[in-house]
Amino acid sequence: MGIEAGPLQAQLLAWYAQHRRDLPWRQGAGPYRVLVSEFMLQQTQAERVTPRFTAFLQQFPDFAALATATTADVLRAWSGLGYNQRALRLQQIARTVTAQYGGDLPSNIADLRRLPGIGPYTAAAVACFAFGAQIATVDTNIRRILQRLVGADAPDSRLTERQVWELAGAALPEGRAADWNQALMDLGATTCTAHAPDCAHCPVADLCRFRRDGRSSDAPPAPTHRTRSKSPQPFVGSSRYYRGRVLRVLAALDPGAGMALPALGRQIKEDYAGYDATWLEPMLAQLERDGLVALGDDEGEITARLPEG
Ligand code: ADE
Repeated sequence: MGIEAGPLQAQLLAWYAQHRRDLPWRQGAGPYRVLVSEFMLQQTQAERVTPRFTAFLQQFPDFAALATATTADVLRAWSGLGYNQRALRLQQIARTVTAQYGGDLPSNIADLRRLPGIGPYTAAAVACFAFGAQIATVDTNIRRILQRLVGADAPDSRLTERQVWELAGAALPEGRAADWNQALMDLGATTCTAHAPDCAHCPVADLCRFRRDGRSSDAPPAPTHRTRSKSPQPFVGSSRYYRGRVLRVLAALDPGAGMALPALGRQIKEDYAGYDATWLEPMLAQLERDGLVALGDDEGEITARLPEG
């Protein structure tokens, strides 16, 4: 397992200078913008995030605005992006930053990792993009590219997580970490995609084992990390699907308004019947425990609303 770092860096950075995607969080980055973008991008593609990011920044321009907003307002602004717990965690971070860090996001990895919703990828990405740390990061796209480069993308030859991070560190060009990490992300999103790698237009194809071994032809390879990549759209009928629908319906109500359970049931499932309460009620109870829904009692009738918090 080796990597020709010099040519790889030169060729990919030259490609990035020409082909980089013009994404709003890349303009005038700052810790807050970087953090919001990274949370939105955790499970959602850049094209879908772009308009929502701009609107979110208008409504909540800084940590203070996000910290003092009601949770219901934050969930409304997040509505449709899915994985709504990301919004809760982001607001928790804003509240911690204002209460404990004097309004400034900590810049070191250890402190970032203590904040909710920040794992190894996000901590490194934020340290790099917001604070200029010269460190590698590894997300699904970067993992796939590195494994292909060294010919370790087949199911029986995958690298361990530790090996992938080591490889990412070995490939990092001095002083160019932010461009480099984003160049890899752009290559993964546009060219070295999971299912249809376009090796003919890849700037580093001549350095790539995957290409050299002839596996870039007709049959697209299996994604390198199927179990990890979450589908952006949940299966119809899955619990994530119904949880998402509940949040959407509640987010569309007037601020402060709630909805009785049977009405809510009919909004999220066309043929909702009385017995469906046996799964709807526990699901709502779980959503309440997760902090995403507030349940109340309106004259003996259970109602659900977004938490004001
Ligand atoms: N995914 C996560 N962070 C990103 C970034 N800065 N640019 C493009 N895609 C990303």
